[in-house]
Amino acid sequence: MRKRIIIANWKMYLSVKESFRLACRLQEELKTMPDKIEVVICPSFPAIPTLGLFLTNIEIGAQDCCWEENGAFTGEVSASSLKEMGCKYVIIGHSERRVHNLETNEMVNKKIKAALKNSLTPILCVGETQKQRDENLTDYVVIEQLREGLKDIQLTGNQQLIIAYEPIWAIGSGRPVSGDEPERVHRIIRHSLLDYLPSDVVKNRVRTIYGGSVNADNVMSFTNQGAEDGVLVGSASVKIDQFIQIVKKVSI
Ligand code: PGA
Repeated sequence: MRKRIIIANWKMYLSVKESFRLACRLQEELKTMPDKIEVVICPSFPAIPTLGLFLTNIEIGAQDCCWEENGAFTGEVSASSLKEMGCKYVIIGHSERRVHNLETNEMVNKKIKAALKNSLTPILCVGETQKQRDENLTDYVVIEQLREGLKDIQLTGNQQLIIAYEPIWAIGSGRPVSGDEPERVHRIIRHSLLDYLPSDVVKNRVRTIYGGSVNADNVMSFTNQGAEDGVLVGSASVKIDQFIQIVKKVSI
């Protein structure tokens, strides 16, 4: 059975000191976490080594990685360095990076390969803009992002993959996807994954989660409908009470 996962994307919300303080409190609050769920914190790069020193029951992820192993890439961080710093996961192709850093599906594909090569589990973000949704292009966009993002990718050994459906218009807007839409899109995602990966791999080693304005009040509507594997939480993940509640609700 696939383990449920709750991923906190701290974006650039916190300083290193603030990250340390919040992580200490979370470690304390979540020390008796049920075995069936996994909690991952993705802080900004400079906070990763500090958190790696003391987090035990919470995993660490990064918010991005470079597609190259090493070389003249000013400002970039390699997947191997992230692994050395204790990361287990890495978010790839987040819409904020696609928008602000002009990341393409081709770059996303190379980053996924770099992550897998370095034993990191990629969290591939896919999702449509408001305009694309208005034009009924949601399915097309998501399928295209999967097709290009996962080009020539195989999961060998016990490698895993996470796909986060994150409609861009729902991120940070307080307007999450509603009704049976999350379930519908998750079905499309799982179905199209079968075009690239063997069915037993999709069944056992690919988790599909939802992200976009998730909070303690609405989280169950996603995990009960389509996003059974978990959620990716942005702004609510830096509010300790909200995040603890999200974890508690999802662990029941
Ligand atoms: P949000 O962000 O929860 O603040 O909408 C989610 C994300 O960007 O991953």
